[in-house]
Amino acid sequence: MNVEITFLPSGRTVMVRAGTTVLDAARKAGVPIRTRCDGKAACLMCKVALPHSSAGLTPPNDNERRKLAGLDRMGTRLACQTRVFGRAIVEVPEDPFRAAVRKQMMRQAEDDELW
Ligand code: FES
Repeated sequence: MNVEITFLPSGRTVMVRAGTTVLDAARKAGVPIRTRCDGKAACLMCKVALPHSSAGLTPPNDNERRKLAGLDRMGTRLACQTRVFGRAIVEVPEDPFRAAVRKQMMRQAEDDELW
């Protein structure tokens, strides 16, 4: 059975087999999610947010729950540990380096408008 998952903020949507990890679905959608441990729940770099609900996703497993401690209450999940079994929407945080570059470019554009 195939299920649909949408990644925000890009809005990219893909169909994947039920049971696919969010990380693998993101790769299929061409949505970059940073990892260092390649899905072993060790690096904690693959955090994603659930802006609406966790419907369509597996509940946190023991490993994920232990790694995220209190964060899972706020809708944060590890993409490598979370599996899709129904329609789901997840939000991928912006890469910190890209965010810093984007902010700097916005400041530069504002400065340019002053001249
Ligand atoms: S990929 Fe490292 S914790 Fe998920």
